Amino acid sequence: MALLNWSDEYSVKIKSIDQQHSKLVDLINQLHSAMKDGKGKEVIGKVISELISYTQVHFAHEESLMLKYSYPGYVKHKSFHDELVKQVLEIEKEFKDGKIVISQDVLNFLKKWLVEHIVGTDKLYTGFMNSKGVA
Ligand SMILES: [Fe+2]
Repeated sequence: MALLNWSDEYSVKIKSIDQQHSKLVDLINQLHSAMKDGKGKEVIGKVISELISYTQVHFAHEESLMLKYSYPGYVKHKSFHDELVKQVLEIEKEFKDGKIVISQDVLNFLKKWLVEHIVGTDKLYTGFMNSKGVA
């Protein structure tokens, strides 16, 4: 069973962003499966690095839309992105250094990390972006 299932309540009503969010959901589920299947450090490390690089691609896309349309919440939103990237880079570092293993707790953290940002922060730009014709 997947750790996280895409749900309509996660939709920000912007197609490109919903697609990217759903790919992030997939990557977190991949990490969950890799952990449950007892995959080695190399496989798990690869999924983590894919999650990080895709997160960065995705945040850059959101930020470019915000800048393009002069979204008033840009600065605050960008600071949340920077913090989220920092958190996941820290997990990667500790994992690589052998200080942590990817456990259910880490997965639950990542699940919350993604869902709370989408629901609590991303959804705030829906009305603004839709009013600019971005959907
Ligand atoms: Fe965001």
